[in-house]
Amino acid sequence: MALINENYLKLPGSYLFSEIARRVEAYKSANPEANIIRLGIGDVTKPLPEAVITGLHTAVDEMADEKTFKGYGPEQGYDFLLEKIVEFDFKTRGVELATDEIFVSDGSKSDTANFQEIFSQDTKIAITDPVYPVYVDSNVMAGRSGTLGTDGKWSDMVYIPCTAENDFVPQLPTEKVDLIYLCFPNNPTGTTINKTELKKWVDYAKANQAIILYDAAYEAYIQEDDVPHSIYEIDGAKEVAIEFRSFSKNAGFTGTRCSYVVVPKQVMGYTEAGEPIEINKLWNRRHCTKFNGVPYIIQKGAEAVYTEAGQAQIKALVAYYMNNAKMIREGVASTGIEVFGGVNAPYIWLKTPAGMDSWTFFDKLLNEVNIVGTPGVGFGPSGEGYFRLTAFGSKENTEEAIRRFTTEFKL
Ligand code: MLT
Repeated sequence: MALINENYLKLPGSYLFSEIARRVEAYKSANPEANIIRLGIGDVTKPLPEAVITGLHTAVDEMADEKTFKGYGPEQGYDFLLEKIVEFDFKTRGVELATDEIFVSDGSKSDTANFQEIFSQDTKIAITDPVYPVYVDSNVMAGRSGTLGTDGKWSDMVYIPCTAENDFVPQLPTEKVDLIYLCFPNNPTGTTINKTELKKWVDYAKANQAIILYDAAYEAYIQEDDVPHSIYEIDGAKEVAIEFRSFSKNAGFTGTRCSYVVVPKQVMGYTEAGEPIEINKLWNRRHCTKFNGVPYIIQKGAEAVYTEAGQAQIKALVAYYMNNAKMIREGVASTGIEVFGGVNAPYIWLKTPAGMDSWTFFDKLLNEVNIVGTPGVGFGPSGEGYFRLTAFGSKENTEEAIRRFTTEFKL
């Protein structure tokens, strides 16, 4: 008898974004004429930058020629890409990394979901709340969650609330934790952390032999000078932090899939006997066993992001979406609804009006003004009473959505 991993049965019926899609489809089939504007899932809408397209085309041609054809590549990524990452994303910020501390992969969703695999079953997990659901669900699947309470919390996980009351700044836990998921700029709240606050987490991790899993997928959206772009800008972070980066949100790779994980060699995990083990070695072992590398063509596309033209084009993309973010922020604020984020991130987090719960507000927006957003509670119990809109739509759709929104909720 093939026994299943029963932890899967603990998971709520569907992944958040599948549930949203289901409700939207149901509405659409009942109202086929409705002009629905989707500002729900954080998926980009602009095409890949020209430089990337050129890189991809060239690589396709190379694959057609026996002399330049590539089969299996290095699982960790080609040197041409690793070198650019080290140089452009880190050295320019004063962070020294070696190329064998970078692992190119197919997306931060898989990376953040998979990384927990190399830790023991008993690892105590801390998550900020609200949070990107993948961090939680992947640990539920792995059997680290305990049971789901009526308060929406898993009994064995430590929740760090980030709400308007604490200005969305995560406070250190009062109980000892081993693995800490942080995401800045934050999905879903669109807020950031400053260096002083981030340093507290690095110090905590050092003092407790804990590890921080730092998701920086939205790094390119940082506009303000005092916001750290990488956790390694904090002293000591290279001893305790893993960082996740993605080409999805800065360069439009959501459908093309390319990301990377930074695993500095100083980061240690421990055996039960207390022997330190390099996390880099374990991750390398896991990566090479389960992954055969991102396609050469895609890595050539990603490499083109670092050309002069590529850099200018991704800046323009980010500016385009940040203009939407500003429109949403200002439009929502003009109705008197409280709004957060959207300054250094493509997400706008708002307080639902009149104390409505998140899903009621979702249904109201969908039914009355045909706008799709994401209910805050879908990101965790502290998200109840909040709602997320993304800046990743087209300018025209965002304008129209805000026109409808401000008419519906005008002061
Ligand atoms: C989101 O809407 O939160 C995004 O789709 C996250 C992701 O990139 O998977």
